[in-house]
Amino acid sequence: MEITCIKGDILQSKADLVVIGVYKDEDWGNEFLTHVNEIFKGRMSKLAKSQDFKGLPGQSLILAAPEEILSEYVLVVGLGDKTTDPKSSVREASGVAVQTAKRLGCRTLAMEFFGEDDETFDAAEFGRAITEALLTADYKFDSYKNETIDDKITAVTIIAEDGRDARKAEKGIELAHTVIDGVTVARDLVNTPARDMTPTRLAETAENIAKMSNGSVKVKIYDREQCEKKGMNAFLSIAQGSEEEPKFIHLTYKPDGKAKKVIALVGKGVTFDSGGLSIKPADYMMTMKCDMAGAAAVLGVFATFTRTQPKFEIHGIIAATENMPSGKAIRPGDVVRAMNKKTIEITNTDAEGRVTLADALSYAGKLNPDTIIDLATLTGACVVALGEEISGIMSNNPELTNQLLSSASYMSENMWELPLFQNYAKLIKSDLADVKNISSVRYGGSLTAGLFLQNFIEDGQAWAHIDIAGPAYAEREFGSYISKGGTGYGVRTLVRWLETL
Ligand code: BES
Ligand code: ZN
Ligand code: ZN
Repeated sequence: MEITCIKGDILQSKADLVVIGVYKDEDWGNEFLTHVNEIFKGRMSKLAKSQDFKGLPGQSLILAAPEEILSEYVLVVGLGDKTTDPKSSVREASGVAVQTAKRLGCRTLAMEFFGEDDETFDAAEFGRAITEALLTADYKFDSYKNETIDDKITAVTIIAEDGRDARKAEKGIELAHTVIDGVTVARDLVNTPARDMTPTRLAETAENIAKMSNGSVKVKIYDREQCEKKGMNAFLSIAQGSEEEPKFIHLTYKPDGKAKKVIALVGKGVTFDSGGLSIKPADYMMTMKCDMAGAAAVLGVFATFTRTQPKFEIHGIIAATENMPSGKAIRPGDVVRAMNKKTIEITNTDAEGRVTLADALSYAGKLNPDTIIDLATLTGACVVALGEEISGIMSNNPELTNQLLSSASYMSENMWELPLFQNYAKLIKSDLADVKNISSVRYGGSLTAGLFLQNFIEDGQAWAHIDIAGPAYAEREFGSYISKGGTGYGVRTLVRWLETL
């Protein structure tokens, strides 16, 4: 999709679909809308009335264009309230534009520069948000289909009223392309069935990202034997039930010149979670190819570095394995010793993510990072608490929490803080070992999972854990621009966080 921003008159633009934005309760009697309505001989305001169009985000009107307009259709799309998170509404409206274009068979769009008359408007930022949503909405995963329909949007022209806005937008448009390339990497990885997206395949993907990086990204892959030598018995205990070889993946990005900080990004990489011997019911197992979405997000972020070139040394760490039941599988009641020497009683083999992360986090700590961030599809309890579209963040460092919350909000990725409530640590005390992998009580499962992970973080180490079990995989559409399947959640937030650090 070619996206450009030029100064012009939207009503004189030539494209298959022309898109106009209308705010909530915008006055149909204002100069511009009156003019447009006249071109339509009053049909537009009539249609708005009959369809109860109020300019809310997601609302839209479609009209066949009259002769005066050089397009086939005109789409009027709601921009919502000017005061509540305008960038998020602009993303939503851009998604509606792409969806509508596809439905009508349109390949080229001309759209108003949404938000241009807004108080908080910044051309680069809004150009970025619009582009991100356009590209995200145009995504389709059809590698497993014999018959595919090409309904890609070929060109979008954003029409600015002010020439300076048009020039400034270019920078945002370029950045958006880079970020969404990373998001797409993550989505493809999550959408690929577990039969093909094995730990080995994840490792190969990491190697490819390194190959494409002109030397700035290096990767080390440890096989089962090498992990044994490093004392990663927690990770290996989950891998022992599977026929697939586990892979411990360590990517390192080094900037030109001296690194300002060292950062470790850790992603849960369970390529399929059957539950193991504590096997899942069929319904819950259905989407468990998504259990490597944390790893996918880390790889997606690394895929952006050749172009974003952050000034930090960044490590990507993934303990990749399947979680399968078999004669060799770990049993409920077994005890394993993690790399940091702590012992774990495995009381439920379906709480496997935290056990693999025990070693991944211990390993990350040895790199002496300033900050560790892990992303994991860790608990169903987080989805119960926050629903499908919001991730939960837990951290031992309020400044880090605020930074991540603000980056997430900037990127319209929904995130909410959950407490690292130390009083619940008693719920994961084990009679047999240092800690057990599930809580003695049914409630607060995300919090005890977070507390479990904290056992593998050294004192004083700044760390945040983001539970993405809900938003990593959309079982239904999330609004207008995120379709069903892998969402690439976390890539946008992390790229933004690195940008602002
Ligand atoms: N991978 C799941 C968590 C999950 C649930 C991810 C829904 C995405 C969507 C995790 O390994 C798991 O099975 N957690 C258990 C923990 C329980 C056994 C304490 C859960 O949440 O049910
Ligand atoms: Zn599980
Ligand atoms: Zn899992």
